[in-house]
Amino acid sequence: MEPMGSASLSGVVEIGDQLCELRPVAVLGSKTNDDDDVPIDLVGASFDDVMGAFANLGREVREVDLVFFRGTKDELMGALAGETGKSFSPPANETITITVIQNGGGANNNGRRSSSSSTTTTHVIKARAGCNLRQILTDNGINVYQSVTRWTNCKGKQLCGTCIVNVSDGGEGTNRKSIDEASTLRENPDSYRLSCVTFAYGDVTVETFPPVKASQWTR
Ligand code: FES
Repeated sequence: MEPMGSASLSGVVEIGDQLCELRPVAVLGSKTNDDDDVPIDLVGASFDDVMGAFANLGREVREVDLVFFRGTKDELMGALAGETGKSFSPPANETITITVIQNGGGANNNGRRSSSSSTTTTHVIKARAGCNLRQILTDNGINVYQSVTRWTNCKGKQLCGTCIVNVSDGGEGTNRKSIDEASTLRENPDSYRLSCVTFAYGDVTVETFPPVKASQWTR
């Protein structure tokens, strides 16, 4: 970081902060590619990979949001490991299995699916470790939106709060919730996630359309 550069002078970023995510912001009306505003996971990425992520941004992207973690890389990995105590390191190029229970996330207070659902469809998806849940589901034709927000959602910018899924198994292999995500989902079971800001590093089971209170949609 430049000692007298704008980032340094802002006081928001400090030397040693860990870059976790890059969120491209496409200029309104100029988006021509579905990948223009997809968050890019950079946890544990090498300098070259980070530079590559910037270099590969679409031409329509005029601005990016950067998500940082304040602490050492080991502390970041420890935070991502959550309270399980398991060591965590994002495996490079590893394939994981995402089991999707579609339209059947009837959950009780523990986030576990009810066995009474009769309309569930199960998909098994192979994906790269570190993939974004919303992206991998939509790429496979699986809708995560429970209403008209299928067409009016914020496209993964963590603004609409409507891409809710239930990570009913394997949640310890995903990134931890940010304060914003936890606040948005505060009236729901811990296993509920905003799929657009959830990254899977290990095998997970994801239920779409988990039941939520009506008040969730009127915040
Ligand atoms: S798509 Fe809007 S919050 Fe996830």
